[in-house]
Amino acid sequence: MRVPIIAGNWKMNKTIPEAVTLVQELLTLVADVQSTEIVVCPPFTALYSVGQAIAGSRVALGAQNLFWEAKGAYTGEIAPGMLVDLGVRHVIIGHSERRAYQQETDADIAKKLEAAFKAGLSPILCVGEHLAEREAGRAEEVVKGQLEVDLELLATDQVQQLVIAYEPIWAIGTGRSAQPADAAAMAQVIRDVVGAKFGADTADCVRVQYGGSVNAANSGDFLTLEGIDGALVGGASLKAKDFAAIVKSASK
Ligand code: 13P
Repeated sequence: MRVPIIAGNWKMNKTIPEAVTLVQELLTLVADVQSTEIVVCPPFTALYSVGQAIAGSRVALGAQNLFWEAKGAYTGEIAPGMLVDLGVRHVIIGHSERRAYQQETDADIAKKLEAAFKAGLSPILCVGEHLAEREAGRAEEVVKGQLEVDLELLATDQVQQLVIAYEPIWAIGTGRSAQPADAAAMAQVIRDVVGAKFGADTADCVRVQYGGSVNAANSGDFLTLEGIDGALVGGASLKAKDFAAIVKSASK
């Protein structure tokens, strides 16, 4: 049984007071949710305050990135242990915006995944293709290629705990979500890659999220599909009511 997991990626939004207000509103709205894991990923600057606000609740804290080294002369970077120190439990790794603007490579992502597990964090690995790649019929090939390298340094028991978010880049922040059937097909491709590398039991354990213009109106179309175990939500996670509605559509 894979427990659904809904994560909100707040990206570079919210000051500390705004972040606390948002999460407090959310806590009230999801107080009766039992069967779904809920994760909020504020920017680094709000992690401590949001962590304080959600202490003892069912909402878990996630970060949006980390660096693979444990400490040292890496100006501006955040070590996995520093996140653990803040009460962070989950971390998004390999988001397409980091791949695009910070030139993160799959080799970097592999090192980040390894470091996250080593520190006891639960990573959410993001994969997904560009529009031109989908239009050229290359979406599967691209996602497979990402996974081949991203998962390279992980052991089977780690992959069993992994969450993989399929986020087609053209669907992020555009209001144009993937067709649910296409998302389900890619979730199967992801499971097949995991199965080929780590065995069928591992493929069965790994949770696959869909991300890309998920909102309160369309989340049910994805979350009711066999093989989609949750959502990674950007814009709609910045509104407590919308995010709570998405969480509830996974709990049905
Ligand atoms: P949107 O939900 O705003 O499309 O963003 C998706 C995303 O990038 C989540 O990581």
